[in-house]
This record gives sequence, C-alpha cells and structure tokens, in this order.
Amino acid sequence: MSETQKKTFAVLTSGGDAPGMNAAVRSVVRTALHKGHTIYGIFHGYEGLMQNRMDELQERSVSNIINRGGTILYTARSKEFTTEEGQKKAVEILRSRGIDGLVVIGGDGSFRGAQKLSALGIPTIGLPGTIDNDIASTEYTIGFDTALNTAVQSIDKLRDTSQSHDRCSVVEVMGRNAGHLALYAGLATGAIATLIPERPFNLDSDVVDRMKATMTTGKHHFIVVVAEGVGNSKDMCYYIEQRTGVETRLTVLGHVQRGGDATAMERVYASAMGYRAIELLEQGVGSRIVGVKENRIYDIDIDEALSMKKDINELFYEVAREISI
Ligand code: ADP
Ligand code: F6P
Repeated sequence: MSETQKKTFAVLTSGGDAPGMNAAVRSVVRTALHKGHTIYGIFHGYEGLMQNRMDELQERSVSNIINRGGTILYTARSKEFTTEEGQKKAVEILRSRGIDGLVVIGGDGSFRGAQKLSALGIPTIGLPGTIDNDIASTEYTIGFDTALNTAVQSIDKLRDTSQSHDRCSVVEVMGRNAGHLALYAGLATGAIATLIPERPFNLDSDVVDRMKATMTTGKHHFIVVVAEGVGNSKDMCYYIEQRTGVETRLTVLGHVQRGGDATAMERVYASAMGYRAIELLEQGVGSRIVGVKENRIYDIDIDEALSMKKDINELFYEVAREISI
C-alpha cells in the first residue's frame, strides 16, 4: 500500500453497553491494522471525544476481548455532544488528530450523533450495539442474543422455584421503549403472557383469564414476562394475585442482562460488521449504518436508516399467544 492510501480511523462505543461490543472493537482495530491503516480507540463515547481522550491501538491492544462483555473503550451518554458547539468541538479534535473516518458502535441515539458528524464532514459509520434490538435498519443488534440468553437462563431458574411453590413469577425484562427482548424471552420460556409496549393488552383477558383457564387443565405455576417499557410491574403482581388467588412474586432482571460473555453469534456478526465498517471508510464512504438483512451483512444510508420504524415480529407474537395454554 502506498503512503497516500494509508488512512487514520477511530472507533468509539456510545450509549448503553452491550455484550459483543468488544468483539466489534477488536474487529475494527484488527481490520484497520491489517489493511495498513492507523486506528485510535476513543474512550467514553462522545463525551471522551470532546475531551480528546484517545489512544492509538495496536493488534495486542484488543487481545483477549472477543468474548468479554462490556466495552474496553468505556461508554457514556453526553448532553454536550447533542449541541452544535459540542459537535463542532468533536470535529475539531478529530481533524487535529488527522482522523479520516470514525466508527460509532451504539444505538439509534448514537447514530443521530454519527449523522451529525457525517454532515459536518467526518465520514462516520454506525454499528448497531444494543441489547434492545430496536434498530429498524437491521434484523439483529450486537448484544441482543447474549441478553436474551441471560434472560432465558434467569427465567428458567425462576420457573423451578415458582413450580415448587405453585406461584406466579412476573419477570421484568429490559427494554425502555421496545419489547423485542421480552417477546423472545417470553416465547423461549413458555410464558403464560408477555406484555410489551408495542401491543395493547388487558390484564384481565390477557393474563388473569388465561391463568384461570390453564388452572382448569392442571397448571399451577406461571411465568408472566413484562417489558420494562410497559411499567407498573409491581402493581401488576398485586392485581394478578388478588384476581387469581395465586401467590405472585416480581423479579426485575435489570442490568444483569447487559453483562456477561458474548454468545458465539454476537462474536461472529460483530466481527463481520466491524470488518465492513473499515472497508467502507477505506473507500472514503461515510454516513452509513451496517446491519443484517436476510442474514447477510449490508449497509444503508444513515438518514434512511434513522427514518425507518421497527415493529415486533408479528408471527412470534401470535405463536406466543396461541401456544400459551
Ligand atoms: P443509544 O445510542 O444506546 O440509543 P442514547 O440515546 O443515550 O443511547 O445516545 C447516546 C449518545 O448519543 C447521547 O448521550 C448523545 O451524546 C448522542 N446523541 C443522542 N441523540 C443525539 C442527537 N439527536 N444528536 C446528536 N447526538 C445525539
Ligand atoms: O438501551 C439499552 C437499555 O439497557 C434499555 O433496555 C434500558 O431501558 C436502558 O438501556 C437502561 O439504561 P441505563 O444504562 O441508563 O440504566
């Protein structure tokens, strides 16, 4: 490669962390180095970028992280970066470091930041990293599979104890605005009901009556999965117990779902997506979001990606309702 083709790139992680982010960082770093470029790791997301907190990374800087949850680059949410002054400051810093392109690993909030940087002349590529799987332009987001497996393993454990006590376990699964994680977890654990923000529900007909109907066929223990975004899970427990006479307990799975070793699936997709990000930047292409469509890695214009809306998997929703009897 001639000197003139050598470029300098940077990578950061932003918003809520997600298992598999490290595998993506590793891939971005190793791909860039393998292709003869220089790569910086920016610490603490956009907040760290505005403070010029970055280090040049080498092959060994990303050793032993392909499996690890969290993000070695740390992450942050930054109010200042949402302002025009903050974004200009970030651009000045990137230019002062001679950075020709940036990879942002995060959710759609982080992508809005990437959109602004692209518009200000910094070619920026977004990689979807969030346990919520709520990015419309991709079928899969880095972190979802691990979080789902964590939720399912926890609910399996709850099933043991609810069975012993003939109880109902109401389990709150993460997802402030999205029910993908709850829907998959509910389906995978045979929940009697799964309540998500994307679909209206009635506690009597969708939970209480279902529980009563299954009691007539000999069911004595129940799992109800509730997405965080639905809210009021505590009141829901009280209501269910009062109406069914079944002792009911609430478990909020919380941030445990954001940690842990990334599944094999995360590692594979994150590696492939990181590779694509550098391929794009190398060609001088920015303003794209990398994702998965029909099981293939692809990329899409950032404006188009951010204008898309994602619905839940209707088939999975129907299946969950039909077979919870
Ligand atoms: P996620 O990326 O997981 O959706 P957030 O919504 O918290 O997480 O976004 C992460 C960061 O991205 C925010 O703290 C902020 O700095 C930046 N960001 C979010 N929205 C915008 C926006 N409209 N313009 C510029 N930056 C944004
Ligand atoms: O976006 C991922 C997510 O884990 C949501 O499911 C959850 O509502 C939110 O982040 C929690 O964020 P925080 O890090 O502020 O607790």
